[in-house]
Amino acid sequence: MWLTSSSVGRKFIMALTGAFLVLFVTFHCLMNSVAILWPAAYNLVCEFLGANWYALAASAILAAFIIVHIIYASVLTIQNNKARGHEKYAITSRPKSVEWSSKNMYVLGIVILAFLIVHLIQFWAKMQLVEVLGCESQIPPVAGTLFIQEAFAQPWTPVVYIIGFIALWFHMNHGFWSMFQSVGWDNTTWIPRLKKISCWWVSIVILLFVAQAVIFTVRANEGYYLTNEELRAQYKDMIVPMIEEEMGAEGAQMGNAIKNMPYEQVSQGIRQMNQQMSAQLEQMKSPQMQQVIKSQPGGQEQLDAMAKQAAGIQRAAAFLDYLEQNDPQTDAMQMQMTQQPR
Ligand code: HEM
Repeated sequence: MWLTSSSVGRKFIMALTGAFLVLFVTFHCLMNSVAILWPAAYNLVCEFLGANWYALAASAILAAFIIVHIIYASVLTIQNNKARGHEKYAITSRPKSVEWSSKNMYVLGIVILAFLIVHLIQFWAKMQLVEVLGCESQIPPVAGTLFIQEAFAQPWTPVVYIIGFIALWFHMNHGFWSMFQSVGWDNTTWIPRLKKISCWWVSIVILLFVAQAVIFTVRANEGYYLTNEELRAQYKDMIVPMIEEEMGAEGAQMGNAIKNMPYEQVSQGIRQMNQQMSAQLEQMKSPQMQQVIKSQPGGQEQLDAMAKQAAGIQRAAAFLDYLEQNDPQTDAMQMQMTQQPR
C-alpha cells in the first residue's frame, strides 16, 4: 500500500498524526487554563472526561495516533540513517537552512516521550485508568485539582515539565510547518508564512503551559487546592457516590443530607461514624457474636449488609483523612498547639 510502503506515504502519515497531536496539545493547554480560572469547573470537566465511552474512545484514538507517530518516526529515522550510509561519518557541511530542531526531531521526540510517561503516571493512571479498572483510591479519580496538588507540590515536577515544554517547543515548531511540506505544499511564498504561523501558534501554547506549571507550583505549595472553600465543598460532594453505592436507599437519604451540610460538619460526622462502625464490626468478629449471628435467621445477611455500609463510610473517611492530613491550615494549628506552654 502506498501509504505504508513509500517514503512519501510514510511522511504523509507522520504529517497527519502530527497535525492531530498539535490539535490535541492545543486543546489540552486550553483545558488546563480552566484549572487556573475556575478550578471547580475543571473537576467537572475531569468527571466528564472520566471512564465514559466517548472519553475512552477519544483516549484510544489519541493513543493510536501517538503510537503510529512514534513507529513511523522510528522507521523514517532508520531509513534516513541507512540512506546516508557511510556519509554520516564524513565531514559534511550542512546547509544553513537545515535547522537544529530538524536534525534532532527524533531525540526531541524521545525527551517528550519520557516527559509523557512521567506525566501519564502522575495524572492519567490515577484518574481514567483507576476508573476503568474500578480500583479503590484514596483520592477520587474525578478530583483533578487534587492530582495537580499532588504533582506540583513535588519540587522536581516543574523541572521535568519545563524540560518537556522546551523539547515540545522545538519539536512542534519544526513539525508544524514541515508537515505541510510533507503533503506537497512546498511553495516559496507559503513556507515562510507557515513557519511564522507555526512559531506563533507553538510559542503561545508552550508559554501558556509554562505559565500554568508556574501557577500550579505556587498554588500547590500554598495548599490552595486543599483549602479553597469552593473546592472543599466539591470534595465533600465527591463522597456522596461512595456512600450511595454501598448503602442503597438509606445511602440516598444520607447523600442528600451530606450535600446540604457544611464541609466541617460532614468531615467530623463521617469520621466519627467510621470509628463507631469499625468498632462494631470488630465486636461482631468475636466467636460468641459469630455464634449468635449464625443462630438468628437472616443474621449473616444483616452482617454482610452492615459490612458493605461500613466499607462505603470507610472509603469516604479515608478521603476526608487525606484532606485533613494534608491541609496546611491544620498543620499550622497543630504547630501552634504544640508550641503553646502547658
Ligand atoms: C501544566 C501542564 C499539564 C497539566 C497540568 C496536564 C494535566 C493533565 C491531566 C489532569 C490529565 C488527565 C485527564 C484525565 O484522565 O481525565 C492529562 C492527560 C494527558 N496529558 Fe496532560 N497536562 C499537562 C501537559 C501536557 C503536555 C505538554 C502533554 C503533551 C506532550 C500532555 C499530554 C497528555 C496526554 C497524552 C494525556 C492522556 C489523555 C487521555 O488519555 O485522554 N499533557 N493531563
